[in-house]
Amino acid sequence: MIRRSILAFALIILLMDNIQAQPKGYLYDEDKVPQFVIPDPLKFQNGEVVKTTTDWKKRRGEIFNLFESQIFGKSPSRPKSIKATSSLSKTIANGKILLRQIEIELTDSGPTVSVLMFLPANATGQVPAFLGLNFNGNHTVHPDKEIAITKSWVRNNGGLGAKNNQASEMGRGASQSRWSVQQITDAGFAAITCYYGDIDPDFDDGWKNGLHAHIRPSQSNQPQADEWGSIAAWSWGLSRIVDYLETEDAVDAKSVFVVGHSRLGKTSLWAGATDPRFAGVISNNSGCGGAALSKRAFGETVKRINTSFPHWFCDNFNKYNDNEQELPVDQHMLLALCAPRPVYIASASKDLWADPMGEFLSAKYASPVYKLLTGNGLNIDDFPNVNTPTIGVISYHVRDGKHDITPYDWQQYITFGKKALSN
Ligand code: GCU
Repeated sequence: MIRRSILAFALIILLMDNIQAQPKGYLYDEDKVPQFVIPDPLKFQNGEVVKTTTDWKKRRGEIFNLFESQIFGKSPSRPKSIKATSSLSKTIANGKILLRQIEIELTDSGPTVSVLMFLPANATGQVPAFLGLNFNGNHTVHPDKEIAITKSWVRNNGGLGAKNNQASEMGRGASQSRWSVQQITDAGFAAITCYYGDIDPDFDDGWKNGLHAHIRPSQSNQPQADEWGSIAAWSWGLSRIVDYLETEDAVDAKSVFVVGHSRLGKTSLWAGATDPRFAGVISNNSGCGGAALSKRAFGETVKRINTSFPHWFCDNFNKYNDNEQELPVDQHMLLALCAPRPVYIASASKDLWADPMGEFLSAKYASPVYKLLTGNGLNIDDFPNVNTPTIGVISYHVRDGKHDITPYDWQQYITFGKKALSN
């Protein structure tokens, strides 16, 4: 009897877990996925077939322009120079990790972002790195007392002590499970992160704050329909961090893997597509506007994301609200824009809002492009069992559990990074 009620309780908890992650009124039933035509990355808009790598360069241009003008929006070009100053350098973890903090001015007039670097202290030469943005401030990534608390806008969060959109001491170390710095540095990589709100605040402010207030793709003071939203701004910020890394001795700037979770996994994909300097791209539970196919309309839809987060994409993306079939591209082509560099897509089994199957299918449908360029693609045809990673030039896993980035995920990214570097 007792055993039965424990089982029933466990089932309720399991169901609650699933329900919490899934807003009501959206599609979670595979049988109800609408019929859709998947655009062929290897066919030009005029119908001609892409046969060679030279053809692909042209086709890539077409696809890139569509993502830029219809989804993420155009970004400004690279500034002539950036200024960086060190604000902290010391060893932690019994001398095993070198912790550094660098302040980088993204443009002449601002904003300044604080970049945190965890380096293997015993490294003898330049090390490869994972670079990704964080959600709640650098001080949440690791409990070290000297990591600066951001003064930028943060989302209010009682658990992190963030009030009036300002971060506080209470959040120190609170997100450390998402940044396995010991695991990463033990593997010989640097972990590099920066608070995304230092680049651009995550609310719809009509370009009044953050990076958007300092630099624009055109002369206009108003966002144009094809100009950058916040995801493009965050990606642009990641590229400026690479500009800095190119001037720096500790990290091999040619071996930087861009990584991100959720909205920041959408960001890592666009960063990989826009900046060929990234050696590989990792997108964790990125869902709609990230790795998940939009045309499946499973879980979060284009209309819902444009309504809840009107500032993430360019205004043209609104044309596809309840109208995904008109999208001239789908998200597998965003992965293809990263080719031939290796890409890793990861889902979580209970994260139906992000559509694990749609994320997997993107990896699968990007394969023909990778095959053309490298001879290899995704090594599996069918959706895999949980916790069964397939690691290659296109990598995929579905972790058992909820929407999150965990040490399990990091373990796979480290294996992926090592494999990519050995090729
Ligand atoms: C929301 C949003 C997702 C996003 C996620 C996150 O759930 O709908 O698109 O990926 O937030 O960034 O945590």
